Amino acid sequence: MSPGDLEEVLKNLPLSKDPKILVGIESADDAGVYKINNELALVQTVDFFTPVVNDPYIYGQIATVNALSDIYAMGGKPLTALNIVCFPLDMDKAILNQILKGSLEKLKEAQVSLIGGHTVIDPEIKFGLAVTGIINPQSIITNAKAQIGDRLILTKPLGMGIITTAIKGGLADEELVNKASSIMNTLNRKTSEVAIDVGINACTDITGFGLIGHAQEMARESKVSINLEAFSVPYLKEAKEFAEMGVIPAGTYGNKKYYSNSVKILSEIPFFLLDILYDVQTSGGLLISVAPNKAEILLSRLQKESSPEAAIIGEVVEKNTHKIMIEYKN
Ligand code: CO
Ligand code: CO
Ligand code: CO
Repeated sequence: MSPGDLEEVLKNLPLSKDPKILVGIESADDAGVYKINNELALVQTVDFFTPVVNDPYIYGQIATVNALSDIYAMGGKPLTALNIVCFPLDMDKAILNQILKGSLEKLKEAQVSLIGGHTVIDPEIKFGLAVTGIINPQSIITNAKAQIGDRLILTKPLGMGIITTAIKGGLADEELVNKASSIMNTLNRKTSEVAIDVGINACTDITGFGLIGHAQEMARESKVSINLEAFSVPYLKEAKEFAEMGVIPAGTYGNKKYYSNSVKILSEIPFFLLDILYDVQTSGGLLISVAPNKAEILLSRLQKESSPEAAIIGEVVEKNTHKIMIEYKN
């Protein structure tokens, strides 16, 4: 659902006030966190969606990497997963077998155990997982502690919504499908481990609300504003070509419509790039807020160890009339 619709749906609900909820629905964070004792809390999330690529095996991988990502964004360690499957009655079961095979391969890589699942007959394929992880309550990384002066690092290139729309429309060649798939099926595990090792202030993963939407949530929860240096934001060059052709998913337009009120554009920016900043991402990278004296160290370690395209894309500033300010300069 679009962020606006979601807000309407969640309005005035009698949500639990259990003090053991360390991160709940109101915080608009990546995953929920529930305290078991002083050393241990559960981190839980669920994510599923319709196919983003044509190969069922790769789709299974991407859906799994995407579902695990919210646990890594909180600094947690995923342990178990449950499948969520919607599948047409008359479709070849071998397709579902391939989806599950791709999924299990990524779970194995992440050392996560599949312990169950649920299937529903549905005219349209949907696949994803509910994931449970653990974390020390003192080590939770939220999107609410970005500090003024922090640098912001983005770890994967943008443009996946535009490119998967091109794939669905039969416009992408095999090379592009492979390139986008290998970005979307890369776990954020190592990235999260490196970030925790260096020490960071806040983190979130970039998914359906796009870079601007998730950055806006970080700004709101941290009570700061964010300066984005659009020139430095990594994206796939093919996303520029397709955006200029008007191949843009509905969700990206939805994000633009919903978030543009909280965005101030400080200098002229190419049209396609603005679309990319709002683009819905599938299994995107982490947006990390890190103290300025650690930013270069973290960036070079990320580039070497997990995320070759990671870049510093902005900074955290004092709360302003707009949550996001976008500058475009070399
Ligand atoms: Co998330
Ligand atoms: Co999620
Ligand atoms: Co059941």
